[in-house]
Amino acid sequence: MNQFSTIREIQECLAIMAGEGRSIGFVPTMGALHQGHISLLMRSRMENDITVCSIFVNPTQFNNPADLKKYPRSLTQDAKLLMECGCDILFAPDVPEIYPEGESHEVDVDFGILDKVMEGKFRPGHFRGVAMVVNRLFTIVNPTRAYFGKKDFQQLAVILHMVNALKLPVKIIACETVREADGLAMSSRNMRLTIAERNLAPVIYQVLLKMRERSGKIPVRELKEWAIKKIHEHPGLRVEYLEICDKASLFPMGNWFQRKRSMALIAVFLGDIRLIDNIELFL
Ligand code: PAJ
Repeated sequence: MNQFSTIREIQECLAIMAGEGRSIGFVPTMGALHQGHISLLMRSRMENDITVCSIFVNPTQFNNPADLKKYPRSLTQDAKLLMECGCDILFAPDVPEIYPEGESHEVDVDFGILDKVMEGKFRPGHFRGVAMVVNRLFTIVNPTRAYFGKKDFQQLAVILHMVNALKLPVKIIACETVREADGLAMSSRNMRLTIAERNLAPVIYQVLLKMRERSGKIPVRELKEWAIKKIHEHPGLRVEYLEICDKASLFPMGNWFQRKRSMALIAVFLGDIRLIDNIELFL
């Protein structure tokens, strides 16, 4: 595996490796890698000639400086794992490489409600930051396909919108959420849970599954209220939001007329750790 921290180096390498029309699969990450990230990498390896993974803890998507500081960093361990999993190129730049002083990389895209509801409401500016870095990384790597997890469903919707709006020449591949045996969606944040919080965390997905069972049988509003109540039966859990939305537009749904398009998205606090998850309500 080749590992680079500068744009010049990775582009020189890609010019040689991908020179003759070979496809490039790209997996952008913020590191602290787990099997969720690795599933994206494996899918990219299956579908492309060359797979590039980036590790960059992007400051512009953190609205809370303490959260940025606390974000887990484990580059040496991550690089070893990526090498074992057959990644061809690891790009791990520092902040000035991605955001040189005096350059603006804001994306000129109107996201409508996509960057304003749910995560966007509670983490203002988050998705502008995500869009900015993903667009910047796309320009550097110039991938044929880029891989994103459905775990971050709203992020996926924002990226798809940006790629369409800017007509970027990349195909976005949405990958299924990888879960622990007890159903908890894998996340770099899980390692920061206490043992007691870790034991409680599977309740989130258990309630989402029960919501799927009840979908269409009781009104949308009642289902939401029921699910929030179910989660709050556990004193260690606090729901920040729970929405039932159209899976493409993310508009909240008030009834089951378009049930096949419905999705439940949730954010829950366990202590000061915030976990998100989602589920398609009708399969
Ligand atoms: P990060 O949280 O490191 O996630 C990188 C990619 O892995 C994202 O596409 C995310 O959806 C996916 N992923 C995370 N957990 C997953 C799981 N349990 N199952 C499947 N996929 C999973 O998301 C980001 O980084 C950043 O916002 C980024 C896109 C890199 C921009 O900075």
